Amino acid sequence: MKVLFIGDIVGSPGRNALKQYLPKLKSKYRPDITIVNGENAAGGKGLTEKIYHEIRECGADVITLGNHAWDKKEIFDFIDNAKDLIRPANFPRGNPGVGYVLKKIGNSTIAVINGQGRTFMQPIDCPFTVLEEIVAEVREKTPYIFIDFHAEVTSEKQAIGWYFDGKVSAVVGTHTHVQTADERILPGGTAYISDVGMTGPYDGILGVEKEAVIQKFITNLPVRFEVTNGREQCNGVFITLNKQTGQAETIKRISINEDRPFFD
Ligand SMILES: [Fe+2]
Repeated sequence: MKVLFIGDIVGSPGRNALKQYLPKLKSKYRPDITIVNGENAAGGKGLTEKIYHEIRECGADVITLGNHAWDKKEIFDFIDNAKDLIRPANFPRGNPGVGYVLKKIGNSTIAVINGQGRTFMQPIDCPFTVLEEIVAEVREKTPYIFIDFHAEVTSEKQAIGWYFDGKVSAVVGTHTHVQTADERILPGGTAYISDVGMTGPYDGILGVEKEAVIQKFITNLPVRFEVTNGREQCNGVFITLNKQTGQAETIKRISINEDRPFFD
């Protein structure tokens, strides 16, 4: 089983970069499933129905979310019908949508789970407990289990990675928008990276106009953050899983930008 994961799509530059690079990445890596984090896809915060379909049409099989899941209110109208869209599983009871999906790939099935951290983020349910329950459930059905863990701090991400080592195929971090160079296979066979990085503007600060962010740091006054334009980047990981065990065999970081151009 080959899995391609693309990190947080930020606004229209992110969607442009996805349109540009996803077909190339697919022909290079030939993934069985492509998973895309889309929580920043609509203007930097949230997801609309139109953009959900746009990302699906680009070639995403499953779209994951995060702390901005509910920022575009129209998501409440379509999330329950969007069967390939998942939000963090440890959002409190009563939240719409689901936290994982079982995706059929030929004769195989892969479970894709979305979780979210709590350190320096909203006080939601415990990700360890909630994800553990889901992992126990889906393990009955498939050895291929993929977790997108959307969190702020590397320690919480590493804790989730180690906690699920040997129990899931992969734990990939999202949310910080900066790719980390710590990709590895943990001893139990779980592919891990603290953050895959984002897909969107290359010259902003986390995808936002840099001048506004700098002003915010200098003055501490309220500032309007807008997605910036210009050069684009695409970040992700490509992971291969053992056919019998579901354990990860390889994890490769993908980082495409003008300084590191795409090679076939
Ligand atoms: Fe986020």
